Amino acid sequence: MLRRDILLFLSPDNDSKVQIMKIAIYGLGYVGLTSAGCLTSEGHHVIGVDVSEDKVREINAGRSPIYEPGLQELLISAVKDGRLVCTTNGAQSTSACDMAIVCVGTPSGSDGSHNMSYIAEVSRQIASTVNRNRKVPLTVVYRSTIRPGTINELILPIFSAILGEDIGVIELVYNPEFLREATAIKDYFNPPKIVIGTIDGKINDRMEELNKNLKSQVFYTKFLESEFTKFVDNSFHALKVSFANEIGRVAIKLGINVAKVHEMFIADTKLNISPYYFRPGGAFGGSCLPKDVRALQYISSDVGANTPVIDSLIRSNEAHKNFLYDLVTKNLASGSSILMLGLAFKKNSDDLRESPQVDLARKLLQAGFVLLVYDPSLTPSKLVGQNLGYAYSHLPSLPRLLINETDLSQKSFDLVVDTNGTSQDHAINGKKSINIHAFI
Ligand SMILES: NC(=O)c1ccc[n+]([C@@H]2O[C@H](COP(=O)([O-])OP(=O)(O)OC[C@H]3O[C@@H](n4cnc5c(N)ncnc54)[C@H](O)[C@@H]3O)[C@@H](O)[C@H]2O)c1
Repeated sequence: MLRRDILLFLSPDNDSKVQIMKIAIYGLGYVGLTSAGCLTSEGHHVIGVDVSEDKVREINAGRSPIYEPGLQELLISAVKDGRLVCTTNGAQSTSACDMAIVCVGTPSGSDGSHNMSYIAEVSRQIASTVNRNRKVPLTVVYRSTIRPGTINELILPIFSAILGEDIGVIELVYNPEFLREATAIKDYFNPPKIVIGTIDGKINDRMEELNKNLKSQVFYTKFLESEFTKFVDNSFHALKVSFANEIGRVAIKLGINVAKVHEMFIADTKLNISPYYFRPGGAFGGSCLPKDVRALQYISSDVGANTPVIDSLIRSNEAHKNFLYDLVTKNLASGSSILMLGLAFKKNSDDLRESPQVDLARKLLQAGFVLLVYDPSLTPSKLVGQNLGYAYSHLPSLPRLLINETDLSQKSFDLVVDTNGTSQDHAINGKKSINIHAFI
């Protein structure tokens, strides 16, 4: 009997019937076996391939070698109905298949990189056994987590070397898996998103058919982006856990109610738990973020909380400022004229305190570039207090750098550097332009 909660996921608004496919799955671990259980539950026929004889024997006997809620029941039913057969011999597995899904492990190597030897081995196996007279290509889908560039630089060359002119008998797809162990079946049928990498970023008919019952948002993209997405997601999840734990450590050391802090933090869906501050582009700055991060670093060290993530924030921001300087000055002859749009830490503000743009301007001047700045929110004579002190100690030539709107339309520049999105509002005569406010 299938569990009720699993059954609910097996028939997600199932008015659209899937076209039954024959699928070979390479690697019967958490990802491969879950995929096998879920795909067979939709009616597909699966040949499971694994190098482990023990695993293959167990699965063919209807026993799951791993514990994953609901999986055992799916396997019993699939094996009994003959929809799942497993083998250690991958040699002929793809002959009558529409699709091969690769879920072999990519464990950490001693230097931290992924070990790609299983991926390479299975790719060679599929390439050397695929029927070269196929009328419709075999769709070879990689679900293992692989380093960006792996399809183009490792997998495609293996297929090309073995298949030569017959390369058209396969089509490559990268489809990262987002399931979490312990909720793998639910996640399989209800993933947070579906990412499908193809050679041209265009739609793939077989993948459309495979995912017909899944209602999640689908992103088609080229291989590199699809390969990178899993690294971004997993690193961010790790960052969230580490950040939360560091905050927890500091709070506990200070006798602060951690539950209350957590409640208030996650209630802020405007700036905290939101897409805000996620767009890659400018460095952080202004009168609050750097100051308060430094102060939290001090408090943490004072109470002995040991918080490497928090301690790394200022360093990471400085690294980003250096990166932006290199980006701006790359291929720029010394003495070139540069217009910077925006000097304050953000648009529509005249606050120059710890503005990353002030640092950039100073470095450009030091390097001998001819710099002018357009920032309509800024009037040097109106700067007061710490803002005034910061501006003049970091950029003494400030009044001479600023130009007005009329100059903006009359002058020409070798490079326009947009730091805050102002370039959208003006026609500027620049030979080249670069937007460091947003890389998107
Ligand atoms: N476990 C997860 O929650 C999860 C989630 C998303 C993505 N991933 C990624 O999916 C991939 C698989 O992860 P997993 O946890 O299922 O790994 P796993 O170690 O549980 O399973 C991998 C399987 O591949 C088999 N294998 C190795 N070489 C083989 C070969 N040449 N032919 C056939 N089978 C072979 C192994 O025997 C093993 O059974 C990894 O890249 C992982 O990073 C895992």
